[in-house]
Amino acid sequence: MEILRTTSAMQKWSLNRKRVGQRIGLVPTMGYLHQGHMSLVQLAHERTEVVVASIFVNPIQFLPGEDLAHYPRDFERDERLCREAGVTAVFYPTPEEIYAADHSVYVDETLLSKGLCGRQRPGHFRGVATVVAKLFNLVLPDVAVFGQKDAQQSRIIQRLVRDLNFPVEIVVGPIVREPDGLAMSSRNRYLSAQERQHALSLHRALEQAEDLYRRGCRDVPVIREALEACLSVESAVKIEFIELVDNSTLEPVTTMGGAVLIALAARVGSTRLIDNIVLGA
Ligand code: PAJ
Repeated sequence: MEILRTTSAMQKWSLNRKRVGQRIGLVPTMGYLHQGHMSLVQLAHERTEVVVASIFVNPIQFLPGEDLAHYPRDFERDERLCREAGVTAVFYPTPEEIYAADHSVYVDETLLSKGLCGRQRPGHFRGVATVVAKLFNLVLPDVAVFGQKDAQQSRIIQRLVRDLNFPVEIVVGPIVREPDGLAMSSRNRYLSAQERQHALSLHRALEQAEDLYRRGCRDVPVIREALEACLSVESAVKIEFIELVDNSTLEPVTTMGGAVLIALAARVGSTRLIDNIVLGA
């Protein structure tokens, strides 16, 4: 497994792979890898001859006051996991390597990024879209794999690829959960043992909504109330939003027709957690 630390080495590596006819799969990450990330590596392996995992804590997608400085990092462990998963190359650049001191060009998705997480985190998705566009230009992937865990992010990347004509196929992998249902996340490590128990209410709420839906409920306010009631059981869980939106446009829905994305964001202590489910897909 190769470790590439510069943009020029990365691009050269990819051009050489392309020259010999190999297809490149890319899994972009911010590191502190877990089985959710590794499931995306597996999906890439199923589609391409070589797989690149990028590990880069992207400063421009963190807002002032967010956890950039404290974001968990453990490159040695990440390297081992990538090796075990058969990753062909890890792209591990420094912020200075990715952003020139006078960097001044950004990619801004202007519609899908306004609601859900974008409302609480203005500028976040501009940072994500910009770094992903740069990664596409550096790694030159045929396929890039993202997780449904960040449903809004995946939709925005699909829009980025469509609207800027990137020749990249986007694959979205399902949410990987801990045995008790908690969606895996690098940020779970911030949770104390007690907070971790409280955090389970996100998945429990989504399960309850699914159960209502399965039993025939199509009433958006009823489903929303059930979600709210379930999340409110733990006073330590502070709801940021409960949204029922069309799964492709991310516009709020008034009826449960078609594929509906139920997206939750809540704070448990100081940790912000997100989770979601798609009903009627
Ligand atoms: P990060 O949070 O490290 O996530 C990297 C990828 O792993 C994302 O596509 C995310 O949706 C996926 N992922 C995270 N948890 C998952 C889980 N439990 N199951 C399945 N997939 C999961 O998302 C980012 O990094 C960054 O915004 C990035 C796209 C790398 C741009 O900086």
